[in-house]
Amino acid sequence: MTALTPELEPLYQAAKAAADQAYAPYSQFPVGVAVRAQDGRIYTGCNVENASYGATVCAERNAIAAGVVAGKRQFDALMVYTPQDKLTPPCGLCRQVIAEFFLPNTNIYSSNHLQQLQSWTVQQLLPDAFTPLYLANSTKVPTE
Ligand code: THU
Repeated sequence: MTALTPELEPLYQAAKAAADQAYAPYSQFPVGVAVRAQDGRIYTGCNVENASYGATVCAERNAIAAGVVAGKRQFDALMVYTPQDKLTPPCGLCRQVIAEFFLPNTNIYSSNHLQQLQSWTVQQLLPDAFTPLYLANSTKVPTE
């Protein structure tokens, strides 16, 4: 468990506000996510479910997509918020998308309505991730 520091407070508040917008009529499990770009700007997403179930998009991927459409390609923090006692980690599919846009040592936080926090590094969530670095014509430079 980690503490909600002043540095993390804006991410926490943004993720909490995003969870209020969740479209989760099937699971009744609202999720909000906030990601912080290197310039300090914060982008948010909520889960958007679908009657076909499989077309559901998680809050993590929607938040990252919001940053990407604003021109951001690298993020230095991610906060998940769920209004329940358990602290929710990102799903497997989202871990792969996180590995694309976050460095391996970046902290990924999960928070809840009790202001409790848990954190993992990207590397802990997805060890030996397949990233663009493995693609033959990748222009992405390893930064660590
Ligand atoms: N969900 C997320 O948005 N993020 C997570 O980290 C875990 C799961 C969503 C998907 C679905 O709408 C609902 O939570 C239940 O799985």
